[in-house]
Amino acid sequence: MIRSSILTKMNPYNILLLFSIIQWSACSGETICSYLDLALNLTYKNIPGTLVRPVKNWRNSTIVYIDLSLYTVVNLDTSLQSLTTYIWFLMEWKNEFLNWDPGEFCGIDTIIIPGEDLWVPDLYIYEMTESDDKSPVIPYFIISSDGIITESKPLRIVSTCNLDIFKFPFDKQTCYLTFGPYVHSVQDIIMLPKFNSSQVNSNSQEIFVSKGDWVLLDISVSSMTIWSEGVEYSQVIFELIIKRAPVVYIINLIIPSCFLVLLDVVSMFIQMGTGERLGFKITVVLGFSVLLLILNDMLPNSDNPAVLGEFFLYSCM
Ligand SMILES: *[C@@H]1O[C@H](CO)[C@@H](O)[C@H](O)[C@H]1NC(C)=O
Ligand SMILES: *[C@@H]1O[C@H](CO)[C@@H](O)[C@H](O)[C@H]1NC(C)=O
Ligand SMILES: *[C@@H]1O[C@H](CO)[C@@H](O)[C@H](O)[C@H]1NC(C)=O
Repeated sequence: MIRSSILTKMNPYNILLLFSIIQWSACSGETICSYLDLALNLTYKNIPGTLVRPVKNWRNSTIVYIDLSLYTVVNLDTSLQSLTTYIWFLMEWKNEFLNWDPGEFCGIDTIIIPGEDLWVPDLYIYEMTESDDKSPVIPYFIISSDGIITESKPLRIVSTCNLDIFKFPFDKQTCYLTFGPYVHSVQDIIMLPKFNSSQVNSNSQEIFVSKGDWVLLDISVSSMTIWSEGVEYSQVIFELIIKRAPVVYIINLIIPSCFLVLLDVVSMFIQMGTGERLGFKITVVLGFSVLLLILNDMLPNSDNPAVLGEFFLYSCM
C-alpha cells in the first residue's frame, strides 16, 4: 500500500534523485554482508567444534551460567510426590573458538544458528523423573562476537518433591531443581547462577501465571559442589516455595465441617426423645463420613497425614 502510493506520487524529478542515491551508494563502495558470510567463516573456525569442550587451554574450565523463571505450576501430584512445572530456561557459556571482529562483518555482532554444530554442556536436572519429550523444541542458539553462546528455551519439568501436607489446605511446599553436568567434573564445568536470588525471584513473580491452585511465594538460587564416587561436580540449585490457594477447600470442606460440628454441639442442648437424638447423631456422623470420602480423593498418601483428615476421623468416632 505505502509503496504503491509512493510510486504513484513520483514525478520524473524524484526518480532521478532516487537513481542518483542508488548510484552514490554503489560508488561509495559500501560493503554488504550476509549472515551466511559470517556463518561460513565460523564453521571454518569451529571444525570439529561439536566434539570437545571449546577451550584453548584444556586446563581451563568452562563456566556455565544458568537462569530460570518459573512460568507456572502445571501440577503438584501429592500421591506421586511429583511436581510438574513450566519454566523459561537460559544457559550461557563461552566458546573460545567462535569469536569474530564485528568490524570485519559490517558490524554484525550476534548471529542465531541451530545448535547441531556446537558443543553444548551436558546439563542434567537431578530431580527430574520423566524424560523431557513434551517441551517445545527450539533448536536455536545466539552467538555473540566475543564467543558467548546463549541457549534460551521453555522447559516442562516433572521432578520429585518431598511434600508435607500436614497443614493441608493451608500448606506451603518447598521443592528443589538442581542443575549440573552429568559427566563433566568441576575441573571441566563450573556452574554459576546468572542472577542473584532477588533478581530470580522478581523475574519469576513478573511472569508467573497461577492456574488457581498454587501461588509463588519465593525462589532463591545457590551454587555448590557435591562429591559423587570420588569426583566433584558443580551444581546450581533453585529453591521454589509455593503455597496452596485454599479457597476451594474452605468452601468444600472446612465450612461444611464447621456446620456439622455446630449441629453436633447444638443437638446436645435440644430436648428430644432418645430415638430422635440417635437419629440426629447418625446423620451428623454420616455427614462427616461423606466429607472424609471427599477428602480422601483430594489428599495424598503420605507418612504424616493431614491434620484435617485426622479431625474428620475423630469427629466420626
Ligand atoms: C574468516 O576466517 C579466517 C580464519 O579465521 C580469517 O583469516 C578471515 O579474515 C575471515 N574472513 C573474513 C571475511 O573475515
Ligand atoms: C586460563 O585461565 C588462566 C587463569 O584463569 C588465564 O590466565 C588464562 O588466560 C586462561 N587461558 C586461556 C587460553 O584462556
Ligand atoms: C542482586 O543484584 C542486583 C543487581 O545486580 C543488586 O542491585 C542487588 O543488590 C543484588 N542483591 C543481593 C542480595 O545481592
